[in-house]
Amino acid sequence: MGGSLLKLAPVFVLLVLSGLAFLFWNITDLEKWNCQTVSTFYQIQSNMQSAFRTAEPSPPPDLNHTYCNHVGQEPTPKEAWEESQLLKSVAWPQPLVPGLPLRQSSDPAQSYYVIQGSDGWRVGGQLEVVVRMNNYLGQPKKHGGDFLIGRLHTPELKAGVAGTVRDHGDGNYTVLFPLLWEGVVQVGVTLVHPSEAVVVLRRLREERPDRVYFKSLFRSQYISQTTICNLCLPPTQEPICNYTDPHTGEPWFCYKPRVLDCDARVTHSKGGYKNKLLTKEEALFFQSNVNIKIPIHASGTDNVTVLPAERAKVARGSLSVTPAGYYYEGSWRPLTGVVMRRFNDVAAITQCLTGKVVYIFGDSTARQWFEYLNKFFPAIDLRSPKGTGPSLAVESKNNIMIQYRCHGPPIRFTGVSTQTLTYVFNELDRLPGGPHTVVALSIWSHFSTFPMEVYIRRLRHIRKAVIRLLNRAPSTLIFIRTANLQRLDPESSLYNSDWFSIQLDTVLRAMFKGLNVHVVDAWEMTLAHEHPHILHPPPEIIQNMMDLMLSHICPVKKKGG
Ligand SMILES: *[C@@H]1O[C@H](CO)[C@@H](O)[C@H](O)[C@H]1NC(C)=O
Ligand SMILES: *[C@@H]1O[C@H](CO)[C@@H](O)[C@H](O)[C@H]1NC(C)=O
Ligand SMILES: *[C@@H]1O[C@H](CO)[C@@H](O)[C@H](O)[C@H]1NC(C)=O
Ligand SMILES: *[C@@H]1O[C@H](CO)[C@@H](O)[C@H](O)[C@H]1NC(C)=O
Ligand SMILES: *[C@@H]1O[C@H](CO)[C@@H](O)[C@H](O)[C@H]1NC(C)=O
Repeated sequence: MGGSLLKLAPVFVLLVLSGLAFLFWNITDLEKWNCQTVSTFYQIQSNMQSAFRTAEPSPPPDLNHTYCNHVGQEPTPKEAWEESQLLKSVAWPQPLVPGLPLRQSSDPAQSYYVIQGSDGWRVGGQLEVVVRMNNYLGQPKKHGGDFLIGRLHTPELKAGVAGTVRDHGDGNYTVLFPLLWEGVVQVGVTLVHPSEAVVVLRRLREERPDRVYFKSLFRSQYISQTTICNLCLPPTQEPICNYTDPHTGEPWFCYKPRVLDCDARVTHSKGGYKNKLLTKEEALFFQSNVNIKIPIHASGTDNVTVLPAERAKVARGSLSVTPAGYYYEGSWRPLTGVVMRRFNDVAAITQCLTGKVVYIFGDSTARQWFEYLNKFFPAIDLRSPKGTGPSLAVESKNNIMIQYRCHGPPIRFTGVSTQTLTYVFNELDRLPGGPHTVVALSIWSHFSTFPMEVYIRRLRHIRKAVIRLLNRAPSTLIFIRTANLQRLDPESSLYNSDWFSIQLDTVLRAMFKGLNVHVVDAWEMTLAHEHPHILHPPPEIIQNMMDLMLSHICPVKKKGG
């Protein structure tokens, strides 16, 4: 055995030498070791390894990233007009002078709010609060753009409602709260991000759509390789695989594995989060306990006493804003017309869902709805990877079926089989629909790293499919879950900030307005609730969402009906 190895030794030496020569030739030929060379070198390396084991991909190089807005299908003139209107509606004021230092940025600790008026608050009226933003030197801010949220609540009653914020553009903001219950109500105003941080978030959204990247595993027999994927890849000479949806032109690309074909793609996964996105100065605008989600204190009192409604007189400040609902004794009370019912046990839910097929599509916040119903109806083990779906729960005695599927790329799940990876619009086109069909959609969170145009385009395709479904089967019930607030720290803010979410949410609401769909207002349901913000809302909130949905599916019988 030793002898035969020895005989092979010259061959090895020759191989190593020629390999070195090859590398040297390449390097000297290229002269400079720029970014591109390094990445190509990694590619070769990973290619060498891939024949033996799965190679981990290296993140793509940093290039200029404004290339992402205009991939995909060109909008028609009408769609382009709508898009420009939508973009206008989410325009956000920004500081007059770019690159303000931290000391001149908005400081929640130095800012305050003042409750307007001194008495006469009654149920049916509204409470007005003026917020005055100051910088770290205690000087008044002279421009708008701070991201503020407000909540009015009574902890003893487990009552709460979201406020509406108006930016006056001069460092003053008004927050309006509807008065919906009697007793002492407490004001809460929070600075989510100073305007200077929003500028940074907007830059990231436009220039760094790669800050969350994706990967796919390719496999054929014993060979496998993993490459980087995204909705748009930086302009490159490397071969790419084009997985653009043939019906809608929704783009998706992966770098082509060197030895495998594009159709050898077997899974889709989140690749990772890029870091070092900020300059040292920019990072100062994202500090926990300093300027991310910090409450603003009251100058004067932070609470008022609300008296019962008085029929004869108009209450102070009659209602100019209408929320989607409010909490009272921990239960959501919608103000959108539907009468809320409680579905507290399996009997009530079974009775409501008898004969129904419920299709739930979306991200992990949609999966929470499936998981809630799954507590009442057993799931079939479809051997799907944990958490990614598809998932199916069935109660055959009463003909109840509940299905969950995640939405298509850019879904940030891990190990989704490309065979089950589908787009929501294509799934909707496969549903006959009808009175027994219920559809629930939750599509927002995984679009936060992309320019707005990307989300608008996706919703446009989903909306078309919703309209087709409602046209062929008008009795189909469709629910759209909006975005919700979440816990933010310096890191997560750059990928998942509530500012990205509120922008997406504004567009989502506008695009489905006027259609026969029911909005489940997760934004207000998380803002008005006492529970701290978290990406996956707690069971109390999920139950309220499901009760709301079931109240639409099984409305209170009308009198005499
Ligand atoms: C090395 O040279 C070969 C042959 O000319 C070429 O195909 C390959 O792209 C080069 N590699 C790099 C890193 O430029
Ligand atoms: C990168 O983008 C900026 C604007 O965001 C532009 O000024 C600059 O010229 C671009 N650089 C390259 C190399 O394209
Ligand atoms: C903004 O608030 C400050 C302090 O309360 C006040 O002096 C100023 O007049 C306000 N500006 C406007 C336009 O309301
Ligand atoms: C990807 O394919 C679509 C059609 O399937 C085509 O319109 C588009 O130009 C292709 N994109 C690239 C970058 O090759
Ligand atoms: C309401 O505000 C007053 C005056 O600021 C304060 O004394 C009182 O403790 C507050 N009440 C509640 C319930 O927070």
